Amino acid sequence: MHIVPLFFAVASLPAALSAALPSISAIKAPFTTNQQWVQDSAGKNFTYVGVNWPGAGEVMIPEGLQYASIESIVSKIKSIKMNSVRLTFTIEMIDNIKDNGGDVTIQDAFNRALGTNNGPKMYQQVIKKNPQFNAKTTRLQVFDAVATELNKQGLYVHLDNHMSKGAWCCSSSDGNTWFGDTYFNVNNWKRGLQFMAEHGKQWPNLVSIGLRNELRSGAQNGLPYNWETWYDQVVPAAGVVNKANPNILIFLSGLDYDTKMEPITSGKDLGNGKKFLLSNFKYANKLVIELHNYQNSATDCGSMESGLWNNGFRATGTTAVNRMPVVLTEFGFSQVGNEYTKTYATCIKKLMPQWKTGWMVWVISGSYYIRSGTQDYEESWGLLNHDWSNWRNPSAISALQGMIDASLKA
Ligand SMILES: *[C@@H]1O[C@H](CO)[C@@H](O)[C@H](O)[C@H]1NC(C)=O
Repeated sequence: MHIVPLFFAVASLPAALSAALPSISAIKAPFTTNQQWVQDSAGKNFTYVGVNWPGAGEVMIPEGLQYASIESIVSKIKSIKMNSVRLTFTIEMIDNIKDNGGDVTIQDAFNRALGTNNGPKMYQQVIKKNPQFNAKTTRLQVFDAVATELNKQGLYVHLDNHMSKGAWCCSSSDGNTWFGDTYFNVNNWKRGLQFMAEHGKQWPNLVSIGLRNELRSGAQNGLPYNWETWYDQVVPAAGVVNKANPNILIFLSGLDYDTKMEPITSGKDLGNGKKFLLSNFKYANKLVIELHNYQNSATDCGSMESGLWNNGFRATGTTAVNRMPVVLTEFGFSQVGNEYTKTYATCIKKLMPQWKTGWMVWVISGSYYIRSGTQDYEESWGLLNHDWSNWRNPSAISALQGMIDASLKA
C-alpha cells in the first residue's frame, strides 16, 4: 500500500470540507523538547496520554485485527480522549525485509506463527474484519494502516522497538536482553531503527521512537551489562535515527527493565569518563527519557514517588544536570477486579498530573494472536475485553478517564 500524505490529499478539497476534518488540524508535528516540556509544532506543551498497542509478538502484526477493525480500535482509544499510541515492532520484521527477500505477507505470518491449521483461519478472520487487506498485504503495510487511521482520527504514533525476535517480552533468558545477546545483534538493531525512522516519514503523525524496550541483564553472550556499554550503543543509535529522520523525538530507555535512568539525569561518569550531557548533542531538543514502572504490590505511594523521582523523573525538575521530558511509557495492572482502586494505580494516577508528565498504559489488547505458545491468549491487563469489542472493566476505565483528564489539564 502506498500512503498518500494527507496534507496533499486535503489541499485539493474545498475549504468548508477540509475544515470539517478535525483530524488534519489535530496533528501538529514535528515535536521538539524544551527542558522538561514536549512541544508540538505550534509551540504548545504536549503531554503524551496514550496506550500500548503491541505488534512485536510472534506474528509481528499489530494485535486484535481478527476481532475488530483498525478503525473501531482507534475510535475506542480516541473515545476516552487519549492522544497517542505506543506501537511496538520487532527488528526481525526488518531483517526479513532486508535479508530474506522482502516483507512477509500477513497470510504467511499467521501460518508461520500459528501453524497451517489455525493460521489460515486467523487470516480469514482478519480480512473479514479488515477487508482492506488481502493475500498480498504485508506486515509493514498493516503498521502503515494503523498509523494512517490514527492520523485520520488525530492521534500521534510513538514507535517502539520492543524486541529483536518477535515474541512476548520480557524475561532475562529470552535472548533479547542486551546488546549482543543471542537475538540482539547490534548492527541489525541499528539498521532496523534506521529503516523504521525512514519509513515513518510517510506517517504525518509519527512524532517519536523508542530505541529499545526494557534493557536488562541475563545475556548469555554479548557486551558487559553496564552504563558504559549503554552509552557506547545508545548514543550512536540515536545518531543513526536522527540522521534518518531528524523530525522525530528519540526516547532513551534505561537499565533493569527501564526502571533506572538516574546516571543520565545527573550527567554522571558512566565509565571511562563517558558522560551523557545534552549539551553534546546537536539534536538535544529531540531527546526524551522513558521509564517503566510495575510496582504493583506497592503499599506506600510516598516511597513509589521518591523511587520514581530518584530513578529518573528528577530530569523534569530544576536540579537535574540534563533537564529533559520523562514519559512513563509502561505501567499497568490487571483490569479484573478492583486493582484500579489500590495504591499502585492510584499513586501513578496522582503522580503523572502532579509532575505534568506523559504516560502510556499497558495495554489495549484484550487478547493476543499468540503469546508464549498459547494461541488466542487472554490478556487480563487489556483495557479491552477478549474480543476487543468493549472495555473489560468500565469502572477501571472511568478511573483511567480521571487520570487522562487530569494529565491533559495539567
Ligand atoms: C508549559 O507548561 C509549563 C508549566 O505549566 C509552563 O510554565 C510553560 O510556560 C508552558 N509552555 C508553553 C510553551 O506553553
